[in-house]
Amino acid sequence: MIKVMLVGGGAREDAICRKLVEDGAVIHACLSHLNPSIVSMAENVFVVKETDSEALFRYAVRNQADLVFVSPDSALETDLVDRLLERGIRVASPSRRAARIETSKAFMRELVDRHRIPGQISNRVFESPEGLGEYFHDLGGEYVIKPIGLTGGKGVKVKGDHFASDQEGLKIADLLIKKEGQVLIERKVYGQEFSLQAFSDGSSLLFMPVAQDYKRALEGDLGPNTGGMGSITSSDHRLPFLSNESVEMAKETMRQVAASLRKEGSEFHGVLYGQFMFTGTETLIIEINARFADPEGINAIFLMRGSLLETLFGIADGSIKNRITFEAISTVLKYVVPPGYGSDPKVVDLAVQADKFQSNPRLYYASVSGSLTKVKTTSSRALAVIASAGKIWEASRKVENSLEWISGNYYHRRDIGTKESIAAKIKSTGIRAS
Ligand code: GLY
Repeated sequence: MIKVMLVGGGAREDAICRKLVEDGAVIHACLSHLNPSIVSMAENVFVVKETDSEALFRYAVRNQADLVFVSPDSALETDLVDRLLERGIRVASPSRRAARIETSKAFMRELVDRHRIPGQISNRVFESPEGLGEYFHDLGGEYVIKPIGLTGGKGVKVKGDHFASDQEGLKIADLLIKKEGQVLIERKVYGQEFSLQAFSDGSSLLFMPVAQDYKRALEGDLGPNTGGMGSITSSDHRLPFLSNESVEMAKETMRQVAASLRKEGSEFHGVLYGQFMFTGTETLIIEINARFADPEGINAIFLMRGSLLETLFGIADGSIKNRITFEAISTVLKYVVPPGYGSDPKVVDLAVQADKFQSNPRLYYASVSGSLTKVKTTSSRALAVIASAGKIWEASRKVENSLEWISGNYYHRRDIGTKESIAAKIKSTGIRAS
């Protein structure tokens, strides 16, 4: 029996856990709350803060894990992976040095500059407010303010979306400098954002289908940014509103990022996840992350054919030997969230007819406790429902229909993957896939 220690307890980790169990692994789950689905599948459960590297390290040694997969970004920022590697334990996640590609946005921008990787956006790091106003002006008043470190998808402030004037921009940037010592200012770019994930064994990348995340809390892409309200993929593994060149360019950028990390002695073993903006002409880097995307990673795992377990061993050992493929069908995922999620969330109880969700649509459990049929939410995303079909809008409808099996006071975005939503995206980029 192969013992895999899985760190993380959300819907993404529920999907990883389910796939690894199907592949024959025995799961030792390390999570901060008792996710009922993961608990139902795991051989052993350790309730622990995902950033408590000391406790996690001791658990891995005590339980003689054959392989460790560290999923959340907050855990990748700790020394856990480095300590496990030093101890000779196989890990399918990046070292702390390699994970800087996500944990320091300044490091990512500098790496892209140093190696002249395509897709760079004008940017500057400030350690004092001096010169900020001038830089805002240089960017034509079109800019984004980013903390250097992890934000859980919620810390980025976009001019025109989250604040209106340069005066407000100065205040936000100044506060970040006071709090964190630095702030990153980037040119604001317009277009369709997309996600490209790949398994990396340190030298080569195995790409997953292109996906798009619906980040805003409310329908019509309104409201605050969230960790992601849902995600789509299409049967051709590239979205209908992106050009082939755009996807190829993103792949090339990712290959160059992995090669540059390797050249600098930070070989990347794990899941590399690029967020790109297709402007209609250019493909620009928004962020590069060191993990599965949430929720887009769930779409990829749902489509995966072949052994994820073998692939994770390949990542750890520096050579992926098996072939993973992805089913040629469209998917839509929608998160069920507590009312007020993103601004003023309320904790609620939900009743779930879990047995109705079989393979398609499928249900994954996120930040909830309780049982498979009666869950209590937290202030975060609660349940993820995913379905596949020939067309994106058909998968969206399938998810909608299945939501009658979940009752209680919850919110979800009905517009994710609808015909209207996809048509608007096609109109915005002027690309229509053949
Ligand atoms: N899809 C957003 C994220 O995983 O950061």
